[in-house]
Amino acid sequence: MCETRSCWTRRSALQLGAALAVAPALSFSKDKKMLTRPIPASGEELPVIGLGTYIVFDVESTPANIDARQAIVKSMIEKGASLIDSSPMYNRAEDVVGDIIKTSRNRDKLFLATKVWTNGKAAGERQMRASSERMNAGVMDLMQVHNLRDTDEHLATIRDWQAEGWIRYNGVTHYRAGALDDLEAAMRQHKPEFIQINYSLTERESDQRILPLAKDLGIAVLINRPFVAGRLFRAVRDRPVPDWAREFAESWGQFFLKFIISHPAVTCVIPATSKIHHMADNLGAGFGSLPDDKTRQRMANYFASL
Ligand SMILES: NC(=O)c1ccc[n+]([C@@H]2O[C@H](COP(=O)([O-])OP(=O)(O)OC[C@H]3O[C@@H](n4cnc5c(N)ncnc54)[C@H](OP(=O)(O)O)[C@@H]3O)[C@@H](O)[C@H]2O)c1
Repeated sequence: MCETRSCWTRRSALQLGAALAVAPALSFSKDKKMLTRPIPASGEELPVIGLGTYIVFDVESTPANIDARQAIVKSMIEKGASLIDSSPMYNRAEDVVGDIIKTSRNRDKLFLATKVWTNGKAAGERQMRASSERMNAGVMDLMQVHNLRDTDEHLATIRDWQAEGWIRYNGVTHYRAGALDDLEAAMRQHKPEFIQINYSLTERESDQRILPLAKDLGIAVLINRPFVAGRLFRAVRDRPVPDWAREFAESWGQFFLKFIISHPAVTCVIPATSKIHHMADNLGAGFGSLPDDKTRQRMANYFASL
C-alpha cells in the first residue's frame, strides 16, 4: 500500500478504492455486520459509525497517547467501522492519526476525511498537501471545506485533484444552525458529494431543510457533534435508559447515536472519544434495530422532558 504522496499513482488510487469498498466486510463476524449506507455519488457502502478527532486526538505523540488512540482505531476496524474525521484546525490531531497509520499499517482499512481551513488557492493547496502527508493518507478519501471557508476556491482545487486521483470525494462542513442558509446555498450551487453538519437530540435544525435537501440532491451526510460535545450525557446523568428504548439501545450513547443514524438522510455519524470503552459503546450503535419515526419522536419528547 502506498503510504506517502510521493508514491501515489492513479492505479493505486483505484486499488485503494476497491480495497476500501470491501475492507469493512472482511472484519465483520459471520452474522453481525455494522449497518452501512451507500455514498450516493458512487454507491460505495460506508459504515454508519465513524470517529471524530477534535480535541480528543490533539495530544502529544507520546507512546501512551498513541497506544490509547491506536486501540480505539483498532477496535473500530474490528467492528467494521472505517471513517476518521480530522482537520488542520485540530492542531496535532492529523499527526496523531498519521502516527497510528504509520505504526499499524492499517491505511487500507480506513476512510480518511479531513478539511481545508484557510483562504486562497495557494494556501489551500499547501494545507491539503500537508494534511495528506501528516495523516499518512496517500490518497485522501474525503476533503471537505471546513466551515464553508473560501468554498468556491477550495472546491475548485479539490475537484481538480479528484480528476488527478489525489482525492476521492469532496465535501463542505459546518456545525452551527446559523450557517444553514449558507450551507443550503452551497449545496444548491456546488452539489458537493458530502456535507457534514451538526444534528442531535438537542440540535435538530438541519432536519427542516438541509437533510431533506441532501437526500433530494444525492449528497452523503456526515453528522458532527452527535453528543453536543458531551453535553447530552450531563443531561441524563445517572438516569437509566428507559425500558421502551432497551430493545435498540443498551446505553445513552447508543440512544443518542441511534436517534441520528435512523434519519434516512444520514450516512455516517462521527462521535469523538479518547476512551476505548466509549468507542466500544459508540460502535454498538452500528448494530441491531433502529427506531422508527414514531419512536424517534418519543425519544425527542422524552429527552426534552428531562
Ligand atoms: N465544522 C466542523 O467541520 C466540525 C465542527 C464540530 C465537530 N466536527 C467533527 O465532529 C466530531 C464530533 O464532534 P465533537 O467532538 O464536537 O463532539 P461529540 O462527538 O458530540 O462529543 C464528544 C465528547 O463526548 C464524549 N463521549 C464520546 N463517546 C462517549 C460515550 N459513549 N459515553 C460518554 N461520553 C462520550 C467524549 O469524551 P471522552 O473522550 O471521555 O469519550 C467527548 O468529550 C469532531 O471531533 C470533529 O471531527 C466538525
